[in-house]
Amino acid sequence: MWAPTCIHGGFNADFVTEIKRAVQIPVIMVGRFTEPYYAELMVKEGRTDLVAFGRQSIADPELPIKAFRGEMESLTPCIACLQGCVANMFQGNPIECLVNPRTGREAELKAAAVKKKVLVIGGGVGGLYAAYVAALRGHEVTLCEKKVVLGGNMRLAAYPPGKGDIVGMVRNYIVLCQKANVTLLTGIEVTKEYIEVNAPDAVIVATGASPLVLPIPGIRDSSILSGDDVLSGEVQCGQKVLVVGGGMVGSELAAFLGEAEHEVTVIELRDKIGADVISEHRKYLMKDFSDYNITTITGAKVSEIHKDGVSYTLEDGTRNCINGFDSVVLAMGYRNYNPFGEDVDKLAKEVYVIGDAVKARRALDATREAYEAAKNI
Ligand SMILES: Cc1cc2nc3c(=O)[nH]c(=O)nc-3n(C[C@H](O)[C@H](O)[C@H](O)COP(=O)(O)OP(=O)(O)OC[C@H]3O[C@@H](n4cnc5c(N)ncnc54)[C@H](O)[C@@H]3O)c2cc1C
Ligand SMILES: Cc1cc2nc3c(=O)[nH]c(=O)nc-3n(C[C@H](O)[C@H](O)[C@H](O)COP(=O)(O)O)c2cc1C
Ligand code: SF4
Repeated sequence: MWAPTCIHGGFNADFVTEIKRAVQIPVIMVGRFTEPYYAELMVKEGRTDLVAFGRQSIADPELPIKAFRGEMESLTPCIACLQGCVANMFQGNPIECLVNPRTGREAELKAAAVKKKVLVIGGGVGGLYAAYVAALRGHEVTLCEKKVVLGGNMRLAAYPPGKGDIVGMVRNYIVLCQKANVTLLTGIEVTKEYIEVNAPDAVIVATGASPLVLPIPGIRDSSILSGDDVLSGEVQCGQKVLVVGGGMVGSELAAFLGEAEHEVTVIELRDKIGADVISEHRKYLMKDFSDYNITTITGAKVSEIHKDGVSYTLEDGTRNCINGFDSVVLAMGYRNYNPFGEDVDKLAKEVYVIGDAVKARRALDATREAYEAAKNI
């Protein structure tokens, strides 16, 4: 049993306390613990004899020594994503960890033979982890992020209900970079000219992805909002909202708006809402849909976008139209963003493109590729 992100450490504390009262043998509890203090309290209060850390020991096997030394800010938290560990185990593959790509490869990293000047472009989790590992190996690393905040799309991922713990990963990666002496520069959009002036030996392009804008009539109207902007709070929705796209981002955005008491409808091409959401998470997401009375239209291909709704065709060919919404928000997926195009390989002697800049996927891919790139410089 693996609790997903929305379930917090100690969720079973009351049950364990009752078991401890009822039995005369030692009790070991387990379940979504990520830091030692709550666990220690459970033992001190006599509610359990031991607390086991499962996935947290994969996310950061140095937890005991970090806790002993009081270095909790450098602890990498398990975000309970279930993507790297459990998913791989079920497929019979070696386990991985989204927040700790060194899982199972702990002895692999070697100090760099030649110290190089490394420029990392993009401060999402891919860029941050690549910068950290490169610096750990002894390189002189600068990371530039065009926004004023670090974290990229995983910052946005933390806004929907139950996903707040994701921000712990971003926070920790920033701390790891700071401790490894990475120079972190925000508000700097790297261009070819910037690279020419700074002349790095190696460049890691971790520029992420941008929202997909499909060629649908009306989609570029200025009144149509982007899901990213809504999540980040850059724009506000009206009361009655239509979310176009019901994959992971669209369905979590709908829950986010539902929690904020908007009246939400989601329209999705596939016949299932949140089809790409890990099943343990989807169960809770669907409960949000029910709790917030979110309306869904599935198997619907949007053919035109209006200021207050959309026209669409159902699988049986029926044409339809829904309107009367105060806001229409797009969440139709992402496309890789690499501002250097075909010139990317000419940016420096060594160039690595990683994460969503290659192809929009998940953070597990971004951190894995970040590690591979930084390991090889
Ligand atoms: C709303 C949302 C929810 C998500 N939820 C999950 C989830 O629950 N689990 C999961 O695994 N994945 C999730 N994802 C996908 C995940 O966020 C991405 O796969 C991951 O962030 C990719 O990391 P990255 O570092 O490659 O790119 P990004 O996180 O996109 O970071 C790229 C960074 O580069 C910066 N940048 C771009 N161009 C330049 C330039 N020229 N100079 C300087 N900086 C530049 C951008 O501003 C950005 O900060 C979600 C995505 C979104 C949008
Ligand atoms: C990759 C992986 C493999 C596991 N294998 C076993 C196992 O073989 N037997 C078992 O009883 N529990 C197994 N577990 C469950 C853990 O022991 C633990 O109960 C569970 O992860 C919940 O604790 P956590 O929230 O601290 O991760 C496994 C967990 C993971 C993530
Ligand atoms: S893959 Fe996700 S759930 Fe598994 S240990 Fe790593 S962070 Fe935790």
